Amino acid sequence: MSLSIVFDRVGGPEVMKLAEGAVAAPGPGEIRLRHAAIGLNFIDVYHRSGVYKLPLPSGLGIEAAGTVTALGPEVDGLAVGDRVAYAGGSPGAYSQERVLPAAKAVKLPAGVSEEAAAALMLKGMTAFYLLHLTFPVRPGHTLLVHAAAGGVGSVLVPWAKHLGATVIGTAGSADKAQLARAAGCDHVIAYRDRDFAAEVKQLTGGAGVDVVYDSVGKDTFAGSLDSLKRRGMMVSFGNASGKVPPFEPVLLSDKGSLFLTRPTLAHYTATREELENAAQALFEVIVKGIVKPQISQRYALRDVARAHADLEARRTTGASLLLP
Ligand SMILES: NC(=O)c1ccc[n+]([C@@H]2O[C@H](COP(=O)([O-])OP(=O)(O)OC[C@H]3O[C@@H](n4cnc5c(N)ncnc54)[C@H](OP(=O)(O)O)[C@@H]3O)[C@@H](O)[C@H]2O)c1
Repeated sequence: MSLSIVFDRVGGPEVMKLAEGAVAAPGPGEIRLRHAAIGLNFIDVYHRSGVYKLPLPSGLGIEAAGTVTALGPEVDGLAVGDRVAYAGGSPGAYSQERVLPAAKAVKLPAGVSEEAAAALMLKGMTAFYLLHLTFPVRPGHTLLVHAAAGGVGSVLVPWAKHLGATVIGTAGSADKAQLARAAGCDHVIAYRDRDFAAEVKQLTGGAGVDVVYDSVGKDTFAGSLDSLKRRGMMVSFGNASGKVPPFEPVLLSDKGSLFLTRPTLAHYTATREELENAAQALFEVIVKGIVKPQISQRYALRDVARAHADLEARRTTGASLLLP
């Protein structure tokens, strides 16, 4: 028998329920996996609250690490006992054990613990594609990273510094500003009570930044456009404060012939080759110590409601884990 979190209606953290049941035998191309650690991500909040729609009833969670306990037919390259991790695919990571398509799992190298993988697979592969594929960051670029002390932010910042960029971060409190500085930000703006776009312009001698990585959405979108250089790149990759409302494309012309993209990890790890490239790049920066897992919160799986409430109320920093 295995414990898992399920929900049958969208709503607040209280809609998540603990369920107990037998885990099915893996089918063709599938593995069964015993989780050691589960990653908490803002997308789980979007799923639970209905911002992103799931067919219900459903499990939750799309990132975890653990050990393979059974193989279905037609699985190559994996064995019972292998340590693996995954990010993406069907929700169901909030569980002690689950069945998963083998094509989603990546073997963990020595030097990457299950906790590190559960904290970093989703956030770190996101940082990889944002910095290398969406807007390839080069020495000399100046970046604005919102929520720099958050889960994705605390990976983006040191990785961007390693690539030679100047990084301006934003943070929602003085404590978070300190963490963002420790992660490598050259400048940190306390954006809750200050006009961050004006400060970015001041810090860049009036020019603006080459790229904004904006995961906050509604509250920061306009200011992010105002922070960009002429022909700069706006990467809107999340909506922690709500979805960006519709606007006329001519706004991008008015603000300096800006580029805008709204990417998602699934489209950068859609093939096995893309997934392996992203995972290998992440494992390399972990093993070299360039990106360190910042696990600031650990919750028992049964305390998942508290974990969601903390994430939504901006009380967390770095990564949060659920322990099954
Ligand atoms: N598109 C993709 O491929 C992709 C992949 C992964 C994550 N994401 C997105 O990246 C973002 C970060 O994800 P995460 O899991 O690492 O979360 P997180 O950054 O640890 O938490 C979200 C942070 O956003 C900031 N924030 C600003 N306004 C907020 C509001 N009204 N409500 C809640 N938080 C607010 C808070 O930091 P401050 O207090 O410092 O403001 C908060 O700590 C999310 O938007 C997520 O959807 C996108």
